[in-house]
Amino acid sequence: MNPHAPPLRGSLPPEGADPAGGGPAPDPMNPHAPPLICLRGITKVYGEGNTAFQALKGVDLDIEQGDFVAIMGPSGSGKSTAMNMLGCLDQPTGGQYLFRGVRVESLSRDERARLRRRYFGFVFQGFHLLARTSALENVELPLIYRGEPAARRHAAARAALEQVGLTGWEHHTPGELSGGQQQRVAIARAIATEPQVLLADEPTGNLDTQRSHEIMELLWRLNVDRGITVLMVTHEADMAAYARRMVRFVDGQVASDERNPLPHLLRQPLPEGADHVA
Ligand SMILES: Nc1ncnc2c1ncn2[C@@H]1O[C@H](COP(=O)(O)OP(=O)(O)OP(=O)(O)O)[C@@H](O)[C@H]1O
Ligand SMILES: [Mg+2]
Repeated sequence: MNPHAPPLRGSLPPEGADPAGGGPAPDPMNPHAPPLICLRGITKVYGEGNTAFQALKGVDLDIEQGDFVAIMGPSGSGKSTAMNMLGCLDQPTGGQYLFRGVRVESLSRDERARLRRRYFGFVFQGFHLLARTSALENVELPLIYRGEPAARRHAAARAALEQVGLTGWEHHTPGELSGGQQQRVAIARAIATEPQVLLADEPTGNLDTQRSHEIMELLWRLNVDRGITVLMVTHEADMAAYARRMVRFVDGQVASDERNPLPHLLRQPLPEGADHVA
């Protein structure tokens, strides 16, 4: 991990710089700015020969900075495959992936890893926390990978835990926390590095309805208040209703792509006296 490594080819700033700075970030006020993410004809084949299986069959998708996208679709339709590819955890077999105008497939393995650590946060259905490790240390982990000094790590991890409502729980291990709290720790870990994009693969899949809504409100707030672009896989329409946009995968392709005219929280009653507000 070398925070002084040379910048990536293209327009990505060096690791350690302000994630929002450096390079031509997409400008929402400029309709001609490139989207944050641009996929063209993305394919993914697992295995070879007789056992080869094509999980993605030509995915075209543009995602603007600041969007909140729910990805839905039947089991096996390629949602997780697409998420792993978007987060540079895996590479496509074919097609083009542009992130902030940079051709991801032209980057080296190290450069892709840096791009992943720098711009993406991940949240999974199973939380993926270290069991015998405190909430605070779990949240600090990606900052250790980044080579942040201890004092900065502690401060960033505490701030992230505060944002997910877990102040006071820093020294509890996952086993001492509820499922909803564990997912909050995982979200704190994902946002501690100040990512531009949060990739959440069925983040509420292991939670009951009330905890699921709490997690969704948290993701919604991160999107609205912090401008984090959220891409979330879900099987539940109630959770997808928080998103601004719904993309449906069927059989390795995008089958539909719709704007949500009234995301979930806007459906709640307006405060008293506010009914004259359009
Ligand atoms: N590592 C792998 N090797 C071989 N085949 C794989 C691999 N990962 C996924 N697949 C296959 O690719 C297809 C798409 O899988 P993927 O996990 O992307 O589906 P999904 O839409 O996320 O499904 P789910 O809703 O069940 O999570 C499936 O048929 C799956 O069996
Ligand atoms: Mg999946």
